[in-house]
Amino acid sequence: MKSEEILARRKQFVPDAIGIFNPSTAVSAKGALITDADGKEMIDFAGGIGVVNAGHCPAPVVEAIAAQAAKLIHCSFNVATYDLYMQLAEKLVSLLPHGEHTKVMLTNSGAESVENAIKIARQATGRPAVICYGGAFHGRTMMSMTLTSKVGYKLGCGPFAPEVYRIPFPDYYHEGNGADLDTFSDKHLRDLEDFFHTNVPASQVAAIIMEPVQGEGGFNVVPQKYLKGLRKLCDKYGILLILDEVQSGFGRTGKWAAYQHYDVIPDISTWAKSMGSGMPIGAVMGKAHIMDACKPSTIGGTYPGNPVCCAASLATLDYMEEININALGARVGQIVRDRFNAFKKQFSAIGDVRGLGAMMAFELIKNNDPFQPDADLCKKLISYCADHGLIVINAGINGNIIRVLSPLVIEESLLKKGLDIIEAGLHRLTKDYTDEATNEYNHMSTKSV
Ligand SMILES: Cc1ncc(COP(=O)(O)O)c(C=O)c1O
Repeated sequence: MKSEEILARRKQFVPDAIGIFNPSTAVSAKGALITDADGKEMIDFAGGIGVVNAGHCPAPVVEAIAAQAAKLIHCSFNVATYDLYMQLAEKLVSLLPHGEHTKVMLTNSGAESVENAIKIARQATGRPAVICYGGAFHGRTMMSMTLTSKVGYKLGCGPFAPEVYRIPFPDYYHEGNGADLDTFSDKHLRDLEDFFHTNVPASQVAAIIMEPVQGEGGFNVVPQKYLKGLRKLCDKYGILLILDEVQSGFGRTGKWAAYQHYDVIPDISTWAKSMGSGMPIGAVMGKAHIMDACKPSTIGGTYPGNPVCCAASLATLDYMEEININALGARVGQIVRDRFNAFKKQFSAIGDVRGLGAMMAFELIKNNDPFQPDADLCKKLISYCADHGLIVINAGINGNIIRVLSPLVIEESLLKKGLDIIEAGLHRLTKDYTDEATNEYNHMSTKSV
């Protein structure tokens, strides 16, 4: 088996610490299908971790990359100015205006966007502190890792950046205790005001950074009232609100930005993943006076906004508009949500179904107890799915959440087939398993989907 050989070579030449979410291999991909090293087609519910909302290798993006590569691959935007950078900036501003005048800094990745967002916020406010959330994931560079919550992502990497404070995410499933959502949100907002007296004065806080829907943290959706209240608190204290849309952006939730569901506009936002269909490109967007507060040469780099990546991103955004990516996100989301809700009724191992648009997940628990995460079942389900032609990945501080980040262009039949595989896996791996179910799923094709 070629796949086994490739995985063995990986073990020999690549550090073990580079994570493996899934035991699959890949040689080529199109739309929502990946062909592995053994020629087996796999339905992709991971989308390269939320990167290919517009599908694998969309033709206009492939063409744009090839054409640009033949013209100009690199000269560094710091050395010679090319218009593609501004074309992309203008496009992003037209889709995601941050007030009257918005400026854009391009980057190479999500973590780099977050690093720069913090540098910009500190310079614009002259304040040192940053507040982030429990369960947050913002990347693996030093500041973004500091902002990241899950200890497993940062073991042995400290000391971390100073002046970073963490508050609990308003996690209704685990902490709601039957309160209504608005009352729950009010309590969290009050706790934040208290935090300014017990931990760090508001006058020292440059920014609060939040994912409107936590990605790696397990698709926790911030409640409406909380985000609106947070916006008001930030305005009251002169704190900048940074929304990290790296995983939730570009159609994933059925809108260009998850924050557009909230009628809230951030001061600064961070982007990457699906904006380049897999080419390494990200962005920091912000109100012009904030972005312009930076001192010369404190932001930038050799590669950010590389011409080939800009061309890929422009072609991606045009293509997303052409196919109405947001409607596709809403459609995929509804199908997955309905099916996950049906699973929840069927399988007691599913404690919660949650998400926004097509950023959908379910949480696996033991003994109907939200505080007994079932990471083992989650791992087995991922492996079952891989054996049966579906790539799916987990999330969550405890690794017990199955999340869907499939390309949004996925055909309905393929989406349903993928969901069938998950259902069959749940039957096989939980007590709800019956002989009837075995027969029904035993003959399911694993070769070609
Ligand atoms: C919300 C969020 N921010 C930042 C990052 C880091 O992005 P990158 O892996 O491109 O550095 C991620 C990656 O998963 C993310 O989900």
